[in-house]
Amino acid sequence: MTTVGFIGSGSIGSTIARLAVEAGHQVVLSNSRGPETLADTVAELGPRATAATSGEAAAAGDIVVVTVPVKAFPNLPAAPLAGKTVIDTCNYGPDRDGDIPELDGTSLTSSELLLRYIPDAGLVKAFNTIYFKHLLSLARPVGAADRSYLPIRPRRSVELPTGHHPFVTRPDLVVDQVQALSHRA
Ligand SMILES: NC(=O)c1ccc[n+]([C@@H]2O[C@H](COP(=O)([O-])OP(=O)(O)OC[C@H]3O[C@@H](n4cnc5c(N)ncnc54)[C@H](OP(=O)(O)O)[C@@H]3O)[C@@H](O)[C@H]2O)c1
Repeated sequence: MTTVGFIGSGSIGSTIARLAVEAGHQVVLSNSRGPETLADTVAELGPRATAATSGEAAAAGDIVVVTVPVKAFPNLPAAPLAGKTVIDTCNYGPDRDGDIPELDGTSLTSSELLLRYIPDAGLVKAFNTIYFKHLLSLARPVGAADRSYLPIRPRRSVELPTGHHPFVTRPDLVVDQVQALSHRA
């Protein structure tokens, strides 16, 4: 069993949390407004779910999912994320995030921007290319003919153990390309 911490528990965060709980993992949710505002979500997810501050969720997670608007990057807790595998689902959207010149100019990717705030995290870009409702509705077991495949890209220094990583071994979240991509490091 793995504990997955969540910084951000909105559309994507709560969907990944649900899939993780269904797979037998613990989840620790957080948002910007405080753990008490996540009571309904925690109740719905059941006994494997708890809520905490974002710093506590980061500290508790064996893996941490950062799934927030890009404009929230400066507020992320860097210290507890140091050395951890951090799944980055985030996409830049000027309408929501405001104009960020480096991202408008494409001199930087949003993940490179994220690394400025959490420089010691083992960042893995994943789940940023699928609509949250499809993440749930398109879940399929290994071998299903209509299974979806998602791109995943680890930071150069990050190795994803394909045999033990919950987001790799999970049948409905499996990303078969992960092995090839992780060998690019
Ligand atoms: N929705 C999709 O289908 C989809 C698909 C792929 C990628 N993405 C990307 O994934 C990210 C999350 O998207 P979403 O649709 O899940 O957004 P969302 O529903 O708006 O949820 C955002 C979450 O981030 C939390 N948050 C904001 N600032 C925070 C902070 N400083 N510390 C901790 N938590 C904070 C929010 O908490 P509060 O509510 O308390 O403010 C909320 O729980 C975005 O970058 C988005 O572009 C979304």
